[in-house]
Amino acid sequence: MAPLTSGALTDGGFGRRIAVEDGPDFVAAMEAAPDTLPAALGEGHGLLVLTGLNAISDDPDLLLRLSRPFGREVENYRLTTPRLNLVHPEIPQIFVISNLPPMNFAPPERPDPPTTADGGLPVQFPHRRGWHTDQSFRRPPPDISLFYAVTPAPPGQGQTLYADGVAAYDALPPELKARVEDLQGLHVAPFRGYGEDSVLAGETPKPLDPRDGPQPQPVVRVHPETGRKAFYLCEREQMDWVHGPFVGMEPGPHGDGARLLYELMAHYTRPEFVYVQEWQAGDMVIYDNRCTIHTATWFDAEQHGRVMWRTTVWGNPGKLYEGEKRSWDAA
Ligand SMILES: [Fe+2]
Repeated sequence: MAPLTSGALTDGGFGRRIAVEDGPDFVAAMEAAPDTLPAALGEGHGLLVLTGLNAISDDPDLLLRLSRPFGREVENYRLTTPRLNLVHPEIPQIFVISNLPPMNFAPPERPDPPTTADGGLPVQFPHRRGWHTDQSFRRPPPDISLFYAVTPAPPGQGQTLYADGVAAYDALPPELKARVEDLQGLHVAPFRGYGEDSVLAGETPKPLDPRDGPQPQPVVRVHPETGRKAFYLCEREQMDWVHGPFVGMEPGPHGDGARLLYELMAHYTRPEFVYVQEWQAGDMVIYDNRCTIHTATWFDAEQHGRVMWRTTVWGNPGKLYEGEKRSWDAA
């Protein structure tokens, strides 16, 4: 049998690609051999790009079935998010990210300047912003996300960028490795007034639902399946810039914690650690939130309606979280 995956998508070993010929057949085969995709994901440092899964658009249950091998629970968003307009009407495990009504999920702004000096797509922080790992403000945080393009933005717009937390951690100078070894980041749900911009603007933070954090999380996580260390870190809206971004360091956007976060994030998102996903209809990216970060790019939402579906899978956050009660259950 031909190998399932191609070689790595970056020189550092990040990502694997799988070209699917028949979506329903592929999903049935993965159900019959449920370790296959998680093993391929681990090989690729937590990133898999699948093409040719267009059948999902007409049969969204296929996405749910493809999610199940990754963990014991696929999140039911109807129970966990107040933003019900973003929940798929028939399959509540699907989160719909779209600028169309009723979702009205706007794309991020363009970086300033919109290109790098040589005319390329900016990827590195702080030129590129919005880097995060999904729902890091919850404990235990989710393991895996499956992100599927129903209707992508036109070529050259609406990409998703992924950074390799394993390779980035491995490449960290020893003195910085020692500094972050036992450090904890303070994560918070976005747009509650705790983000960097809100704090800089002097906004009053809103009271937080216990589901929204702030949650301390290790900056360096040991992956429960591969045993490899990787960064676990966000920036801007998903860190608590009032009390953090790091536990035990000078807080606020001008403190020692902020300086360290900028240094770490600039390193984590160096172009050699980043994969740029240019979407076509029927593509899926499966990413491991325990060892990668990602961010969205701008698209012309006045001209184009983009529709993406996401599921989140939980259940194996690692030893550190063992026995913890979930912070994110509805009260
Ligand atoms: Fe995300």
